[in-house]
Amino acid sequence: MTPAPVDQSVVRVRVPAKVNLELRVGPRRPDGYHGLATVYQAVSLHDTVEVRVADGWSVHLRGRTATGVPTDDTNLAVRAAQELAGAYGIGTPVAISITKEIPVAGGMAGGSADAAATLVACNRLWGLELTLEELEGAAAALGSDVPFLLHGGTSLGAGRGDQVVPLLARGKYHWVFALADEGLSTPAVYAECDRLRGSADVAPPQHGLELLGALRTGDARKVAQHLANDLQVAAISLQPGLGEVLEAGLGFGALGGVVSGSGPTVAFLARDRESAIDLAVALTASGVAPDVRRASGPVPGAQVDHATPST
Ligand code: C5P
Repeated sequence: MTPAPVDQSVVRVRVPAKVNLELRVGPRRPDGYHGLATVYQAVSLHDTVEVRVADGWSVHLRGRTATGVPTDDTNLAVRAAQELAGAYGIGTPVAISITKEIPVAGGMAGGSADAAATLVACNRLWGLELTLEELEGAAAALGSDVPFLLHGGTSLGAGRGDQVVPLLARGKYHWVFALADEGLSTPAVYAECDRLRGSADVAPPQHGLELLGALRTGDARKVAQHLANDLQVAAISLQPGLGEVLEAGLGFGALGGVVSGSGPTVAFLARDRESAIDLAVALTASGVAPDVRRASGPVPGAQVDHATPST
């Protein structure tokens, strides 16, 4: 396919964070990844990614969670743009501007979200007109969570998390996220999971049927009972304070709680919006989780928010 000529427009894309309602981790594969059976939900904490044609590749970050994100070519958003440009013969670099609301190294796929948003933005900017399915290939090469952030909603994830199937799920879910001061490295948490398992045989990962049933009925209480994360023990082993945060949130009336992805963010499901506000206040006031965010899900994946025509 011959791409349309590059123009001078600006494209802005909003992209959500994710939480894993279930994260079942199989044995370590020969390629170093772990087979997963996961249920993703996209939640209303958003990063905004803006791309515009420029003389060189660059990325600029702002927002209260931007500290610690690389601003060189190792930034996942820059890699996303460069890989798409390479694959489709685009010779014009872009300047990327990211406004961050998603916690960094928090287990909520902040970097992957920015990569997914960049793919969607560059697809529009460069007039590539690639379908979601075509973007998925590039997305999976960038990271296991990137394909899901293109979809959003509530989805099953298989393979290393990159094979995504949208799920029929009812209901709106009210979340409170307790953020940690220090991030956790995803490879370090998987390595700790392997260490704790030692030489024990690990079964292939399988979804819990109860969670899928609860999502079909939209019953938040039942969904909360079946939140599960095989990485949780490893994340708590590396950051023991997470166990106290979980206990405190449940004590303050959360329907359920789970470490989000590889952590260290702890996700609590609340009965409704008012309960979520009460829970956020209780967690903050008690000092157990000084930084909390409320969000709801499911929400759509990376979406073009604004595109100016050529001048
Ligand atoms: O795919 P992504 O780059 O996000 O993964 C980061 C790291 O997390 C991998 O290099 C690997 O160590 C670990 N990981 C894993 N199994 C998965 C996903 C990630 O072991 N399914």
